Amino acid sequence: MRILYINIKELLQVREENTYKISGKEMSKLPTIKNAFLLIEDDLIKDFGPMETLSIDAVDKTIDVTGRIILPSWCDSHTHLVYAGNREQEFVDRINGLTYEEIANKGGGILNSAKTLQETSEEELYEQSCKRLETVMKMGTGAIEIKSGYGLTAEAELKMLKVIELLKQNYNIAIKSTFLGAHAVPSEYKNNKQAYIDKIINEILPEVAKANLAEYIDVFCEEGYFSVADMEAILEASKEYHLIPKVHVNQFNAIGGIKASVKLNALSVDHLEVMKEEDIEVLKNTETMPVGLPLCSYFLSIPYTPARKMIDSGLPFALATDYNPGSSPSGNMNLVVATACIKMRITPEEAINAATINGAYAMGLSKTHGSITKGKKANFIITKEIPSYGYLPYDFGNTNIETVVLNGITI
Ligand code: NIG
Ligand code: FE
Repeated sequence: MRILYINIKELLQVREENTYKISGKEMSKLPTIKNAFLLIEDDLIKDFGPMETLSIDAVDKTIDVTGRIILPSWCDSHTHLVYAGNREQEFVDRINGLTYEEIANKGGGILNSAKTLQETSEEELYEQSCKRLETVMKMGTGAIEIKSGYGLTAEAELKMLKVIELLKQNYNIAIKSTFLGAHAVPSEYKNNKQAYIDKIINEILPEVAKANLAEYIDVFCEEGYFSVADMEAILEASKEYHLIPKVHVNQFNAIGGIKASVKLNALSVDHLEVMKEEDIEVLKNTETMPVGLPLCSYFLSIPYTPARKMIDSGLPFALATDYNPGSSPSGNMNLVVATACIKMRITPEEAINAATINGAYAMGLSKTHGSITKGKKANFIITKEIPSYGYLPYDFGNTNIETVVLNGITI
């Protein structure tokens, strides 16, 4: 099936093959074609260019999108979309003055979600997750990473990963799965964290790998959760199974997790709300993508990742939602892009680069996703009639999307 889109007001993020990530120096540029056409064949981008160069016959369908902008669908490289229930009560507790840390210390937080998830059947967990996935796809997300980490037992972690697997099978969207057994220390291991780490390394990780249920591995490296040494031990052990690290670091404290992650060839380091000078230095000239999660900062009222400074120092930068019940109960990438512009002081061009091609890189998908490139997946957003692409983050809180096309199919 060949579909031709004509009279596109502006086609964004037009890239050559072999462009897999954009460095800080290049992020202020967003290559576009005004008054463009786009030809797709089945699930792939076949051709595009200025309308005046269009000389294509034999198409099955022509769609006139006069006044609309087309951009690649969002690439959300960090989510915990598979979870059970919600933490609305903790939201109110925080409004009433408790901190995220105080709530966690009372047995709330991740452990609260783990308890709910352990008591939820796989079917029910799948149903809840489907609704969230459908919602984010309609909001323009076309590739997504999903983590385990609300199970914290072998059984419940596998249940989460199986649900991610089912989502992969049943939805027309690229999904990458990450094993996050080291998300929090279960209460029964409160006084013996090492025993839980041993359990992850010797029991849960081998089972996850044997069942082929994850491509990536994550650790929440933070005071009160897992130390740098804990993270190193878990990531070292995962090498045997060829799991690639993508890790939670520097959310509340800078404890050296970035340096360790880079050494262990992490594909991405995520959160980064608290950054020391040396953390920025150590990321330079590496293959590790720094990922900011502005909705987490917004929702928890914690500092924003110093994206401006990082980009100015030449680092590439990606944006993701962190969709989860505790620190970001939203999977809205449009809001991520707007919040990054408003609160991190990055430009619309930088934010769109961060939320498309650099996001794709941060989950190993930039060969197929994240830009308008011949041969890449036909994944894109058709906006409503808007004055310019900068209007997308400017008009924050509104989702100016008319149509989402994923793998050539309008959803
Ligand atoms: O990325 N920081 C660790 N994990 C999640 C939140 C966990 C939760 O509160 O449920 C995050 O923010
Ligand atoms: Fe997270």
